Amino acid sequence: MVQNLPIDAAAPLHVVVLAAGRGTRMRSARPKVLQPLAGRALLAHVLDTAAQLDAQRRIVVVGHGAEQVRDAFSDAAVHFCLQQPQLGTGHAVQQAAAAFDDDAVVLVLYGDVPLVRAATLQPLLDAARSGALGLLSVELADPGGYGRIVRDAAGQVQRIVEHKDADRAELAIREVNTGILAAPGALLRRWVAALRDDNAQHEFYLTDVVALARADGVAVHASVAAHADEALGVNDRSQLAALERIVQRRHADALLAAGVTLADPARFDLRGELRCGQDVFIDVGCVFEGVVELGDGVVVGPHSVLRDCSVGAGGRIDAFSHIDGARCGAQARIGPFARLRPGSELADDVHIGNFTEVKNSSVGRGSKANHLSYVGDATVGERVNIGAGTITCNYDGANKHRTVIEDDVFIGSDTQLVAPVRVGAGATLGAGTTLTRDAPAQQLTVSRARQQSLAGWKRPRKGDQQGD
Ligand code: UD1
Ligand code: CA
Repeated sequence: MVQNLPIDAAAPLHVVVLAAGRGTRMRSARPKVLQPLAGRALLAHVLDTAAQLDAQRRIVVVGHGAEQVRDAFSDAAVHFCLQQPQLGTGHAVQQAAAAFDDDAVVLVLYGDVPLVRAATLQPLLDAARSGALGLLSVELADPGGYGRIVRDAAGQVQRIVEHKDADRAELAIREVNTGILAAPGALLRRWVAALRDDNAQHEFYLTDVVALARADGVAVHASVAAHADEALGVNDRSQLAALERIVQRRHADALLAAGVTLADPARFDLRGELRCGQDVFIDVGCVFEGVVELGDGVVVGPHSVLRDCSVGAGGRIDAFSHIDGARCGAQARIGPFARLRPGSELADDVHIGNFTEVKNSSVGRGSKANHLSYVGDATVGERVNIGAGTITCNYDGANKHRTVIEDDVFIGSDTQLVAPVRVGAGATLGAGTTLTRDAPAQQLTVSRARQQSLAGWKRPRKGDQQGD
C-alpha cells in the first residue's frame, strides 16, 4: 500500500498522447491522427490543449505511420516514442514511461479525442497533485463500445471494464471512460509495468491501472465531463464529420458572441483564425483559412473563400470570390466572382469586379478593374481605370516581367500590355491596343489596324459560281 502521497505543488506536467493506433475504419493512407479537423491534424488539436495546460513536456506515442506523424510535427517541441507492435493503450504508456519523470504529474490524452478542453482536465490534474488517480468520465445515452466506470455502493470508482469484457449489469452502466487520466509519474510507471493482457482482446489495457490504484490504496477520482461532446473520439469518417460540425459550431458561437453576424451559423467554416472588427456580416457557405482579418463593417457575400488575407473597414466581398494572400484596403469592392492571389496589395477604394484576377500586384487608391481582366506582376497607380478584358502579358514562357501603370491612366477595353512595359501618368490606351513599348504620359496610344469600310462589297451567297 502506498496511500495518497501528495506531490510537489510545483511539479511539472508531462503529457503523454497516445497516437499509435491504426485507425482501420478511416480507410485512409494517412495515419488517423493526421486527419484534418477544422483544417488541422487531430493531433495538433490535442497538442494545443497540452500547451494550454503549460505542459513542460509533450510525449507522443507513435506506431502506425510513425514516420508521417513525426514529419508532420517535426517543428513542434514534441518527444516521440515508438510503440511497435501495438499491444494496447497500457502498452503504449509503457513505451512512454522512459520519457516522463517520477516527480511529474502525468496526463494521458488520446490523439483521436480532440475536443476535450483544458478547463475540463483541471480536476484530473488537481487529483494527481493530491497523489490520487484522476479520470475523466462522461455520461452517454448510448455507452456501446466504451469502457464502463464501475463504482461501489458508496460511489467510489472500483475499476473500469471494457465493453467486450463486461457482463449484463456492467453493460447497463452509462458512465463511461474517456480514456483520459492523470496520475503522479512514479505511480503510473509502476502500474503500467504491472499490467497483464488476460482479457478478451489480449491487450494491455491502460484502464486496469484503476484496479491497481485501488489495490495500492490510492484514491481514484472520476470527474464527469459537463459536455459529452468533449469525449467524442474519431474512429471513422462519419465521426470525423460530426466532430467537424461541433468545432465549427464552437467557432460560430464564439464569433456571434463577439458581435459578428453569421447569416447561418450552420453554414460557416473556419479552418484557421478569423479576426473581425465591429458589425461584420458573413453570408452563407463561406470558408476561411489561415489567418483572416476583417475590419469594421466588412460584408462577405455568399460562398466566398478567404485565405490568409485582410479586408479594411467598410470593404465588401461579393458572392463567389476567392481571396488568397491578398490585402484589401478600406471600402474595397471585390467580386462577385473575383480572384485575388498571393501578393495582391489593394489600397483603399479599389474595385475588382467579376472574373478579374489579380496576382502579385499593387493597386493604388481608387483604381478599378471591374470586368474580365488579368492583372499580374503589375504596379498600378491611383485612380486608374482598367477596361474590360485587359490583360497584363507578364510571362514570356520563361520569365515573368512587370507592368507599371502610373496614376490616372485610362486603359480601353481588350488591351494587352506586353511586359516589361510602362504606361505614363494620365495616358490613355485605345481599346484593343497591344502595347509592346512604353506609352508616354498624357497621350493617347493606340495600336490597331486602321478601320476601313468597302462600299461596293457584297456578302457571298450560296450557289454563287466563280470562273468558266
Ligand atoms: C479506449 C479505452 C476505453 C474508452 C475508450 C474511449 C482502453 C483499454 N480502453 O478504448 O475504456 O472507453 O478508449 O474512447 O484503454 N493506441 C495506441 N497504442 C495501442 C492501442 C491504442 O497508441 O496499442 C491509441 C490509439 O491510437 C488511440 C487511443 O490509444 O488514440 C485509444 O485506442 P483505441 O484502440 O481506440 O481504444 P478503445 O478500444 O476505443
Ligand atoms: Ca477509440
